[in-house]
Amino acid sequence: MTASGTSGSSGDEVRVLRRSDETFAALGAFVTKGVTLHPRKGNPEPRVIETHAGLLNSIGLQNKGVDRFLREDLPKLRHHGLPVYVNISANSIEDYGTLAEKLLAADDGQVTGLEINVSCPNIKEGGVSFGVDAVAIEKIVKAVRKSIPRGRQVTVITKLTPNVTDITVPAKAAIAGGSDALSLINTLRGVAINLRSQKPYFANVSAGLSGPAVKPVGLCMVWDCFAKIPECRNRQVPILGIGGISTWQDAVEYMMAGASAVQVGTAWFVYPDVFIDMKKGLEKYLAATKSSVRDLVGKAHG
Ligand SMILES: Cc1cc2nc3c(=O)[nH]c(=O)nc-3n(C[C@H](O)[C@H](O)[C@H](O)COP(=O)(O)O)c2cc1C
Repeated sequence: MTASGTSGSSGDEVRVLRRSDETFAALGAFVTKGVTLHPRKGNPEPRVIETHAGLLNSIGLQNKGVDRFLREDLPKLRHHGLPVYVNISANSIEDYGTLAEKLLAADDGQVTGLEINVSCPNIKEGGVSFGVDAVAIEKIVKAVRKSIPRGRQVTVITKLTPNVTDITVPAKAAIAGGSDALSLINTLRGVAINLRSQKPYFANVSAGLSGPAVKPVGLCMVWDCFAKIPECRNRQVPILGIGGISTWQDAVEYMMAGASAVQVGTAWFVYPDVFIDMKKGLEKYLAATKSSVRDLVGKAHG
């Protein structure tokens, strides 16, 4: 799957690739950039800087808002026949519910699932990220679940921040709220200092670290949830592994740690054929080991 925020919301970013058809064919699902109730301008530039083994970004959830997303982007995604997961963000618990309701009232049945990003600042509660507040997470997931129209099957995924001491606490809260799956992980907080200005590089000081540098952290969090949460262990609540995945070998590692599927973000910025090559490599590995993805999930736990 694409990782939210790294491949747009309409498929246009994939369509411009030289091997776009093969890339669409290699994807299992498309996850959109974070969508909010109202348009957001995002943060002032600079917004990205490379680190030794990754990327720091401070985009600030720039997007055109749910109305324009529904009108302009979602219809374009329809042509590729991929399941569409819409990544949603809001500043209050109520707004998460309102946003989900608005989306599902006008999506023409195109949305397969919602991926709730709980990593944004909780403005009403005083600026702490929702992602570190287990009570808020449970309420957000419940509010989103409640907004699903009767008779519709919509998968609810909660995407957790790794900026916590024990990932199983927010994970359990998401499950208690009714999350069908967990996405692990979002970016890690990081800082870069500009030697010329002698000031932090980013206006908000800290930014989000992604790419190969975060892979061991993501693996650790997938491992912990799979090992310690019975619903994850018995696959009732599957884990989507994210963080520094650049090759099929990375994907297999995540699966053996407990992920049932994977998302790729930063690698795609430097290596446009990543999805095609990952699919090929994974298929070869599965054939050579006479196994299926299902066999690999959690294999390293013994
Ligand atoms: C430029 C950029 C924008 C992102 N925007 C979002 C977003 O809108 N919503 C979200 O949940 N995650 C967002 N993320 C986080 C990614 O989806 C992913 O969780 C993270 O980058 C780790 O995966 P990776 O190492 O494969 O990039 C963004 C990441 C990057 C690099």
